[in-house]
Amino acid sequence: MIKSVWSFWVLSVVGAASLSAQHLRRFCDASYFCNYSAMALDAIPSGLTDDITGLNLASNAIEQVSKMDLKFAVNLRTLLLHSNRIQTINDDAFRFLVKLEHLDLSKNNLTHLSPSWFSHLSSLRQLNIKGNKYSHLGGTPLFSDLQKLRFLYLGNDAYFSTLRKQDFEGISILEELEIEAQSLRQYEQGSLKSIGHIDHIILNVHSPHTLIQITHDITNSVVCFELRNIQSLNSSYLRQFSLGSAAVQKVILRNVVLSDYSAGEIALILSGLSQLHELEVVDSRFTGVGNLKELQGLHSAGTLEVITVRNLTSDLFFSVTDFSTVRHLLDKIVRLTFENTKVFMVPCELSKSFHSLEYLDFSVNLLQDLTMDFSFCMNSFPKLRTLNISQNTLSDLGNVATRLAHLVNFTTLDASRNNFNRMPKSCTWPQSLKFLNISGCKINSLTTCIPQSLEVLDVSSNNLNYFRLSLPQLRELYITNNKLTTLPDATFISSVQLMVVRENKLVDFSEEQLGKFVQLEMLDACTNSFSCSCQFLSFVQSGEGISKVLVGWPENYICDSPSTVKGKQVQVAQLSLTECHRTLVVFLICILMLVMLMVVAILCYKLHAIWYMKMTWAWLQAKRKPRRDLNKEICYDAFVSYSEHDSGWVENVMVQELEQANPPFKLCLHKRDFMPGKWIVDNIIDSIEKSYKTLFVLSKHFVQSEWCKYELDFSHFRLFDENNDAAVLILLEPIQEQTIPKRFCKLRRLMNTKTYLEWPRDDNQQQIFWFNLRTALKS
Ligand SMILES: *[C@@H]1O[C@H](CO)[C@@H](O)[C@H](O)[C@H]1NC(C)=O
Ligand SMILES: *[C@@H]1O[C@H](CO)[C@@H](O)[C@H](O)[C@H]1NC(C)=O
Ligand SMILES: *[C@@H]1O[C@H](CO)[C@@H](O)[C@H](O)[C@H]1NC(C)=O
Ligand SMILES: *[C@@H]1O[C@H](CO)[C@@H](O)[C@H](O)[C@H]1NC(C)=O
Ligand SMILES: *[C@@H]1O[C@H](CO)[C@@H](O)[C@H](O)[C@H]1NC(C)=O
Ligand SMILES: *[C@@H]1O[C@H](CO)[C@@H](O)[C@H](O)[C@H]1NC(C)=O
Ligand SMILES: *[C@@H]1O[C@H](CO)[C@@H](O)[C@H](O)[C@H]1NC(C)=O
Repeated sequence: MIKSVWSFWVLSVVGAASLSAQHLRRFCDASYFCNYSAMALDAIPSGLTDDITGLNLASNAIEQVSKMDLKFAVNLRTLLLHSNRIQTINDDAFRFLVKLEHLDLSKNNLTHLSPSWFSHLSSLRQLNIKGNKYSHLGGTPLFSDLQKLRFLYLGNDAYFSTLRKQDFEGISILEELEIEAQSLRQYEQGSLKSIGHIDHIILNVHSPHTLIQITHDITNSVVCFELRNIQSLNSSYLRQFSLGSAAVQKVILRNVVLSDYSAGEIALILSGLSQLHELEVVDSRFTGVGNLKELQGLHSAGTLEVITVRNLTSDLFFSVTDFSTVRHLLDKIVRLTFENTKVFMVPCELSKSFHSLEYLDFSVNLLQDLTMDFSFCMNSFPKLRTLNISQNTLSDLGNVATRLAHLVNFTTLDASRNNFNRMPKSCTWPQSLKFLNISGCKINSLTTCIPQSLEVLDVSSNNLNYFRLSLPQLRELYITNNKLTTLPDATFISSVQLMVVRENKLVDFSEEQLGKFVQLEMLDACTNSFSCSCQFLSFVQSGEGISKVLVGWPENYICDSPSTVKGKQVQVAQLSLTECHRTLVVFLICILMLVMLMVVAILCYKLHAIWYMKMTWAWLQAKRKPRRDLNKEICYDAFVSYSEHDSGWVENVMVQELEQANPPFKLCLHKRDFMPGKWIVDNIIDSIEKSYKTLFVLSKHFVQSEWCKYELDFSHFRLFDENNDAAVLILLEPIQEQTIPKRFCKLRRLMNTKTYLEWPRDDNQQQIFWFNLRTALKS
């Protein structure tokens, strides 16, 4: 019993272990980078082996890293442990990770750092230990064994208070160093001096005093100097601040508050930097009005060429002055960006001062048609090549064109996301304009205002129904997100190499249409409502060529109609034969119907259908007539029916014999007694009705030509009923029963059931014939 419990326990443990290993593998990619982030893990998963190259354990609840956790993951190159609750790390935890290049321990709960963690990480390039709870970097140098370290992020906002000389021992070169130390109180002078070269230093230090000490140490080693989170740059601080004539080429201020005064002071400090090329101010606040008096005495901005201001809130933006005090410093500026800074106008005089400016980005501001007139007055920005006025409140594209027309080297205009819903018929542009972006401008239709010199045109996200502009030089055309139903005509834009018509209402495109784009290399027609006709399908499914040109093929090309293939990829959609060869099918159906008609016609002919019909008609006619009282109107003894061929015998022999008999019989002959002008069948019916008997003179001719008039159900007269003697048959010549057509079944029956009088050739027997006939007529 005890034994079985044990084996059960062992089995369960083994089962659980293998399950977790399988479970783990699901989160690894092909290169064995395993992503277990945000999975609420409270420990590093067990079973990590040497095939794993990357491990993302971020955003879990891990509290410690023990000695065994990573022991077998010896090929690990990336280990991300940020945003956990790690308090303790075993001294030997990372001992075997000699290939580790990237270690992130930020945002944990480490209160002290141990040099033994890092002492074996000889490949480490990037280390992040920001956002923990340590107050200093420890008693022994932490990084002295990290020969390959290039990116280092350390410190924290609340606890980090001390930087000592030994802390950076062993580091001689860094690409990026961030020190987060809002609470730094003690900086041992010279601590950072040991690092010979730092490409980019980010200082997030509150205390002006410490900041000045630090900058003093790095003045000759830093290329890009970034300050973050400085709320007050007051005079006493700025006066002491000096970067010397350092190697600094770029200064970034992020999340700072600038007044007229501090901005001026900073400008003065920067003007002392002999190599300064670029100044960037990001996510900051400006409390002044642009009255930078301090700069009046400055002669030039030195080597500064690039100024970027992005996301600057300005409390008094409406009362910002004309910056006349700095005008003389703008001479050498080549690139200027004021993005999202509430700029609504640049005074004309200021604009004219930018003698070297080639690139101007005023995107996300408050420029209007009227203020454009001042900002881009005559002779403004004479060297401008590129202008970005995306996301302003402009509505007159013609005016924009005119304002820029004087710029001789102007090539690129991004005027996207304005409100040019209408545009004039013609506009005056700079002749060198090559690139125009007017996407997202609510434009309903394009006019010849669009200049012919363009090589790249973006008219995406407008309301265009068609594109019909002649742009002979155009190489790239973007018409994403409009309402086009057909491709633009190639004859007007024959040089196009790249065309993007995503998210339109294109129904299809044909070989002929595409063929005209002789230079087309890429066509992006994803996400359209393709009508998958047979022609279209056979074209796009046919060749290699088309699939090489199409971007996003095949997964983003979906049929919208017909309903049988709706939602299917164009590449695999198949239509049935009837859908694809409609004309052929119609043609075949016609042929088939014709054949059937012919067959019916032949059958009709063969089966005498016409005759049947005629007879039916006659019968119907007869039926419609009121039935007469037979006895009253009878005025003939017999109606004689005979064929014209036999008229000689009937008229000369029989009529003589019967009408001159004693008593004479009164005969009705159609030649003699029929009412002229009445239809023959009516006449026959009338005559039969007016006669006691009907005498059929049967001969081959009669059967062929006359009988047909009687055959069809003359039951009306009860003429052919077996017990009716009204019909008298005379057989003028012998008739074989087989020679009687099958459809004359009445005649056949009649001849079978009734005795008929046969006309004898022998003269002696003729008397008997006449006698019999007379008897038959009298009965
Ligand atoms: C890891 O997964 C998280 C969420 O599951 C995801 O947000 C993150 O982008 C992934 N990271 C990598 C490198 O794949
Ligand atoms: C960090 O560690 C302290 C003890 O050192 C503990 O009181 C605190 O709860 C921990 N914080 C987190 C977020 O785990
Ligand atoms: C300027 O900064 C120094 C150092 O932080 C501080 O002592 C002083 O009070 C500040 N002065 C003003 C006017 O803010
Ligand atoms: C702009 O800067 C402010 C701080 O000055 C920041 O809060 C905001 O998120 C920034 N906006 C953008 C879009 O970066
Ligand atoms: C213009 O500015 C917008 C918004 O800042 C940006 O997205 C766009 O890329 C810029 N255009 C050019 C041509 O640089
Ligand atoms: C225009 O560009 C050419 C060639 O780069 C240059 O020589 C010329 O000075 C420029 N003209 C202006 C007004 O910038
Ligand atoms: C045109 O501007 C829009 C919006 O600013 C942008 O998304 C797009 O990439 C630009 N087009 C080109 C060709 O740069």
